[in-house]
Amino acid sequence: MAIFRSLISTLLLIAISSTFTFAQPFRCTSPGAKCDGLVDYVSPNQTTLYAIKTLFQVKNLRSILGANNLPLDTPANTTVAAKQTIKIPFPCICRKNTGISNRRPYYTVIPDDGLYHIAAEVFAGLVTFPQIQEVNNISNPNLILAGQKLWIPLPCSCDDVDGQKVVHYGYVVPAGSSVGGIAQQFNTSQDTLLRLNNLTSPKDLDAGAVLDVPLRACSSVISNNSLDYPLLVPNGTYVFTANNCVRCSCDAANNWMLQCESSLINSSCSAVQCDGPENLSLGNSSSSGCNHTTCTYAGYNRQEILTAINVQSTCAAYNNSSAISLQGLRWNFLRIFIHILLICLPFLK
Ligand SMILES: *[C@@H]1O[C@H](CO)[C@@H](O)[C@H](O)[C@H]1NC(C)=O
Ligand SMILES: *[C@@H]1O[C@H](CO)[C@@H](O)[C@H](O)[C@H]1NC(C)=O
Ligand SMILES: *[C@@H]1O[C@H](CO)[C@@H](O)[C@H](O)[C@H]1NC(C)=O
Ligand SMILES: *[C@@H]1O[C@H](CO)[C@@H](O)[C@H](O)[C@H]1NC(C)=O
Ligand SMILES: *[C@@H]1O[C@H](CO)[C@@H](O)[C@H](O)[C@H]1NC(C)=O
Ligand SMILES: *[C@@H]1O[C@H](CO)[C@@H](O)[C@H](O)[C@H]1NC(C)=O
Ligand SMILES: *[C@@H]1O[C@H](CO)[C@@H](O)[C@H](O)[C@H]1NC(C)=O
Ligand SMILES: *[C@@H]1O[C@H](CO)[C@@H](O)[C@H](O)[C@H]1NC(C)=O
Ligand SMILES: *[C@@H]1O[C@H](CO)[C@@H](O)[C@H](O)[C@H]1NC(C)=O
Ligand SMILES: *[C@@H]1O[C@H](CO)[C@@H](O)[C@H](O)[C@H]1NC(C)=O
Ligand SMILES: *[C@@H]1O[C@H](CO)[C@@H](O)[C@H](O)[C@H]1NC(C)=O
Ligand SMILES: *[C@@H]1O[C@H](CO)[C@@H](O)[C@H](O)[C@H]1NC(C)=O
Repeated sequence: MAIFRSLISTLLLIAISSTFTFAQPFRCTSPGAKCDGLVDYVSPNQTTLYAIKTLFQVKNLRSILGANNLPLDTPANTTVAAKQTIKIPFPCICRKNTGISNRRPYYTVIPDDGLYHIAAEVFAGLVTFPQIQEVNNISNPNLILAGQKLWIPLPCSCDDVDGQKVVHYGYVVPAGSSVGGIAQQFNTSQDTLLRLNNLTSPKDLDAGAVLDVPLRACSSVISNNSLDYPLLVPNGTYVFTANNCVRCSCDAANNWMLQCESSLINSSCSAVQCDGPENLSLGNSSSSGCNHTTCTYAGYNRQEILTAINVQSTCAAYNNSSAISLQGLRWNFLRIFIHILLICLPFLK
């Protein structure tokens, strides 16, 4: 009987720990730093992409589609099953050594809401109610009013990891996971995960925890004064940038190089081209001899979209990078062209 009871309570504990998500804040050490955050939302009930977009106040559905690598024509009313995971992109800011979503989402209290319900159920445990209380200066957690707007502080970070810029992904740990397995799945190390998440031992991992997992992003030549710098796009995702005039995607199989092309979503965009004899359009490449020339995205500012010509030479003779010319042009008509002799691969067989 006693064995039975303890078995049942053990099973109950497992069931409980695998149904609930619980967040601890992510460390973020440069005050005021801003970046893009990403977190798993495990939907408690059946819902739609549109309802999720509304809940998290994501401006464009395509940002959610890109983060989840869903086709761009996925309809907003697409059903999301209960317990299905959707990745949510959001703006992140460092504050008091902790990264939190930068005043988005705001949640509007409805009658009979409680802070615990909002934290644990509506936002599926991605925040705790004391965290909501703290950022909203609520002195009495039992006193919130219908219509009141609450800032929901989702966990995130802008810190470099091992000297690399990464996307800090708030991964909701599925039941039966191990730190080593997660490290392998996301090509990071167990030690890195333990350190980032303030875990002393791999045994401290709980199902439902929101784990800070650093994701490697594709590299690019985006200049550090571009408005979207450093534009970190992890493997298997895509984003729109430069007022939606450019779509960039990352595929590890493509040597971890960011791939960007013109997007004509914004009617005031025109196709972006690199200047040069070949009139390459953004993302196109051409080959001549041992040179492989690609027109790549280099950032944007209030006036212009920047492009760069990237010549990869498979010849041993051309070895280093050099900027050749720089020219500014206005939005839509103009582009800067920087010729960069970027990477010279070693002599290929
Ligand atoms: C989504 O909306 C389209 C038309 O707007 C409709 O044809 C389709 O049946 C809807 N799908 C679902 C799952 O509601
Ligand atoms: C999920 O559904 C249950 C039962 O219908 C309801 O009580 C609960 O409030 C719903 N949760 C959310 C987050 O909508
Ligand atoms: C909370 O109070 C602090 C100072 O007491 C203030 O700086 C901050 O803006 C307030 N936050 C909100 C969300 O009202
Ligand atoms: C995984 O990470 C290691 C070290 O960071 C790196 O050398 C290796 O190429 C990565 N593997 C993949 C498939 O990206
Ligand atoms: C790390 O965890 C320990 C207890 O396990 C706690 O005392 C400490 O404040 C935590 N540090 C951070 C930075 O969260
Ligand atoms: C931006 O890059 C330039 C050269 O590429 C460098 O001189 C400058 O220090 C960088 N600025 C910042 C803020 O990193
Ligand atoms: C990149 O993502 C694809 C799926 O989008 C996956 O099959 C592949 O294993 C990933 N590669 C790395 C190195 O993470
Ligand atoms: C479209 O581009 C213009 C500038 O070219 C920008 O002002 C506007 O905000 C963009 N619209 C969208 C929806 O991105
Ligand atoms: C590139 O564009 C210029 C002017 O638009 C044109 O004169 C030239 O023939 C084009 N070159 C090629 C290779 O299409
Ligand atoms: C260049 O890219 C455009 C689309 O961006 C494509 O239609 C065209 O075929 C490409 N040209 C070459 C030579 O690859
Ligand atoms: C390759 O690029 C280099 C540097 O731009 C240039 O000097 C050389 O003539 C090019 N070779 C071919 C075959 O186009
Ligand atoms: C590239 O240049 C360095 C020195 O500038 C030289 O040591 C190296 O051998 C060169 N590599 C090739 C492939 O020519």
